[in-house]
Amino acid sequence: MPSGTGPVLEVEDLQVDLRTPRGTAHVVNGLSYTVGHGETVAVVGESGSGKSVSVLALLGLLPARVATVTGRALLHGEDLLTMSPERLRQVRGPGAGMVFQDPMTSLNPVLTVGRQLVEGIRAHGEVSKADARRRAVELLGEVGLPDPGRAVDRYPHELSGGMRQRVMIAIALSNSPGLLIADEATTALDVTVQAQIIDLVEKLQAERGTGVVWITHDLGVVAGIADRVLVMYGGRCVEDGTVDDVLERPVHPYTRGLLGALPDLAAPAGPDGVVPDLATVPGVPPAPTDLPPGCVFWPRCPVRSDPRCETEQPPLVQVGGGPGALPHRAATWCEDRTPGAASAVDRTFGAASPGEGGS
Ligand SMILES: Nc1ncnc2c1ncn2[C@@H]1O[C@H](COP(=O)(O)OP(=O)(O)OP(=O)(O)O)[C@@H](O)[C@H]1O
Ligand code: SF4
Ligand SMILES: [Mg+2]
Repeated sequence: MPSGTGPVLEVEDLQVDLRTPRGTAHVVNGLSYTVGHGETVAVVGESGSGKSVSVLALLGLLPARVATVTGRALLHGEDLLTMSPERLRQVRGPGAGMVFQDPMTSLNPVLTVGRQLVEGIRAHGEVSKADARRRAVELLGEVGLPDPGRAVDRYPHELSGGMRQRVMIAIALSNSPGLLIADEATTALDVTVQAQIIDLVEKLQAERGTGVVWITHDLGVVAGIADRVLVMYGGRCVEDGTVDDVLERPVHPYTRGLLGALPDLAAPAGPDGVVPDLATVPGVPPAPTDLPPGCVFWPRCPVRSDPRCETEQPPLVQVGGGPGALPHRAATWCEDRTPGAASAVDRTFGAASPGEGGS
């Protein structure tokens, strides 16, 4: 897999439709983003916004009889969406590693974790069984598994949820991938192990230029690891930009709602040491089988006033980021785009107040 300093991943107009008993679910609707060499893009958005489906689609992991995927997804210039199944198998591992949101459905229950790691390592390189096993034990230690020499011979069901999550991370890192996709990878882990894993990923990025897509609900993780943030709502990107732009100067009413109930981002974690998750915006997200005709956030938007809101999808336009800086984009006709202005969004969701976080 070629590397270099160009973009690692370029996703263009990704659309995913799923056939369901209730009709076609439009789960991902024209998603475009780029992950640069050594860059980390955090993907945030509430449950059901299409985060997992969008990354499963990239690696051809959605069942073909259910899913229709269109668009382009260039990994180092090579389109993942049109490559042959054989090429895709070669690419998964050294080209793109993935940590799945649910480790139990992605680990093979009848093979020991060591065997799964060894097979993954040997599938993509000339490595002896003994060397691969040594590397497997080393990796399990690096992801913080206690007693890795014994854990290597355990079956997935013999491990706790957090341990299985760490095994998944070890498998994803085992081939030093050029692209790492981490879907809620550290959610069940305590902060010390989480920090250890983030260090490992950053080391890989420094050595290999790995581009990372990190899906999370945890604002502490976003602030700690991301270079850029992409906010998803209803299968669309409603806002993206540098971590500073999005977290400190959010423009889209949905992003501002997510962040509005959080303590000052510059402040340390709360008295119990816990950084709250992204907050929940009042109301419920639209069903992907029944998306509104206009702005996808319209039914919940506290500042909708433009007549187009109800009938037209606002385009994603640049709202900040100066010349030479990365663009800050948002899809809204919200009347008040002035960064930091006390807008109707603040009045509706309430000003930031410590301790109001939730998920
Ligand atoms: N196999 C499937 N068949 C039908 N619908 C599905 C399937 N998988 C996901 N969906 C639907 O697609 C939408 C997006 O799901 P997805 O799992 O991508 O959400 P998410 O943003 O990852 O949420 P979470 O934060 O809870 O992980 C949801 O409405 C979900 O019900
Ligand atoms: S386009 Fe209209 S409905 Fe949509 S977020 Fe902006 S103001 Fe709200
Ligand atoms: Mg998910």
